[in-house]
This record gives sequence, C-alpha cells and structure tokens, in this order.
Amino acid sequence: MLSKKRIAVIGAGHIATALVGGALKAKLIDPRSVTVSRRSQEALDALKKRFGVHTATDNRKAVKDADIIVVAVKPQQAGAVLLELAPAVKPGQLVISVMAGLTTAWINKKLGKPNPVVRAMPNTPMLVDAGATPLAKGAHADDSHLELARRLFAAVGTTEVVPESLMDAVTGLSGSGPVYIYMVIEALTDGGVKMGIPRATALRLAAQTVFGAAKLVLETGKHPAILKDEVTTPGGTAIAAVHELESKGLRTVLIDAVVTATKRSEELSRLAE
Ligand SMILES: NC(=O)c1ccc[n+]([C@@H]2O[C@H](COP(=O)([O-])OP(=O)(O)OC[C@H]3O[C@@H](n4cnc5c(N)ncnc54)[C@H](OP(=O)(O)O)[C@@H]3O)[C@@H](O)[C@H]2O)c1
Repeated sequence: MLSKKRIAVIGAGHIATALVGGALKAKLIDPRSVTVSRRSQEALDALKKRFGVHTATDNRKAVKDADIIVVAVKPQQAGAVLLELAPAVKPGQLVISVMAGLTTAWINKKLGKPNPVVRAMPNTPMLVDAGATPLAKGAHADDSHLELARRLFAAVGTTEVVPESLMDAVTGLSGSGPVYIYMVIEALTDGGVKMGIPRATALRLAAQTVFGAAKLVLETGKHPAILKDEVTTPGGTAIAAVHELESKGLRTVLIDAVVTATKRSEELSRLAE
C-alpha cells in the first residue's frame, strides 16, 4: 500500500531519518519514491548515499508530486515552513506531522487548505525499531489516511490510534517516557555500584532488567501487578524492596511525572496558537 506512494519528507533530521531508514529496511517504501528535504546540502548528500532517496533543498519542489508529506521540522520552524509549502500543497495530499504540540487544526490553518492531516508522536526508541507511536487524525483525515500513517510508523515500533485530544497526554507518557526510564536505569545502576558491582556490569544488568520486564509484560499480556506478585516470595528480597518503593512514593512520583509533562505539553501547544 505504501510502496506505491510518493513520499516527501520535509525536515530530514533525527526523527525523519529514523522513520525513513526503518521504513526502507522493512521494504515498506521504495527509495525511488521518496524525496527528503532540509537546508544542509551536505547532510542531504549523505542521506542520498545512505538510502538512495531523492533530495531537495527546495521544500515546494520536494512536495510537488508527493502523495504523502511528512513534516518533521522543529515546532518553532513549523509556521514558516508550512506557509512556504502552502502554495505548493495540492488537495488530497496527506500531511503527516511528527511535530510536538501542533494541532491538526493549526497545521490546516497555516496551509490555508483542508488537506487531511495526521499527527504522530513517536519516541526515540524508534531509532532501534522499538518506538511507541500514538497517532491521531484531524478533522479532514479519514481512517484510510490514518492507516497509511500507522503503517509507516509500524516499521519502527508499535502504534496506537488515539483521539487528538489525548496527544498531550501521550506526549507526557510515551513521548517523554524514555527519559524517565533512562533515569530509572541510571539509578538502578548506581544502586548496584553502591553494593559493589562494577559500573559497566551494573549498567548492563539494569538496562536488561528493564528491557526484560517490559518484554514480559508485553508478551504475556499479564497485568504487571500479577507479574510482581508472582516473584515476591514471602519474607524475601523483592517484597522488602517493594515496601521501600511504596514508602518513598515511587508510583506517585511516576504518575505525577506524566501529569506534569502532559500539562507542559498543553502549555507549549497553547504557545503555538
Ligand atoms: N526527538 C524526539 O524525541 C521527538 C519525538 C517526537 C517528535 N519529535 C518531533 O520531531 C521533530 C523533529 O525533531 P528532531 O529531533 O528530528 O529534530 P532535528 O534533528 O533538528 O530535525 C529537524 C530538521 O529540520 C530541518 N529544517 C530546519 N528548517 C528547515 C526548513 N526551512 N526546510 C527544511 N528542513 C528544515 C533541519 O535541517 P537543516 O538545518 O539542514 O535544514 C533538521 O534536520 C520536532 O518537531 C519534534 O517535536 C521529536
């Protein structure tokens, strides 16, 4: 379905490169049907060499024959880039935005056109094909547009379709979430080091423990509380640590982190209005 589509990627930076790289690796898209754009010619030459895609420094030229336009510039660059694209965007071209905090209505307003727009909020584990990408469709997009976008991001991890009203909340959970888990991994490592484990060993053990626990939740489909109960031996080590975590408010802190990040995302979205 996607292999027949011509795709223009405006703002070929980290996120866009991970997406294009993942979709090419999965043979979901054809490099000859992809045009990537950014201002740096040197970076474009490197992308051409690496992926075999077309390149352009002219954004309007890049979107000319595209079926799908992925916009992945920084949110603060979005207004100018969308205004620049507006005269070149044709009816029916699907716009997919990965830009944080910018609503589909705002994107349509900048374009001055009722094109279908789908928002995606990937996270950086997409760099290793383990991303989590919630997607939401705007007022002019239908389920077929959403499905096209979903398939693209499915090349670099899992996807979830959500109403657009939840985009700030998913930004607070999975968008920013890797950062919370990096802190957990770092802290577990420090705990191991404190108890005498060499740092490199402690880091590998901590990261693999987080990875393994997440894999077990996803693959068994069991509720995490059940998995926890299954390994807390009466009078054992894990329940002693559970008591410590509960008394220091681990769960409340993590809930608060998601709430605070969601509110910050809402604030940033309002700034773009
Ligand atoms: N990083 C994350 O974890 C994450 C997660 C979810 C969503 N996002 C969103 O993804 C977007 C991109 O983030 P990123 O981390 O990939 O940033 P990035 O690496 O800085 O990529 C942005 C790219 O836009 C290009 N650009 C700037 N102005 C341009 C213009 N006028 N025309 C064409 N290209 C232009 C830049 O290249 P030149 O300077 O060469 O033009 C740069 O490569 C952001 O909107 C962000 O909100 C990021």
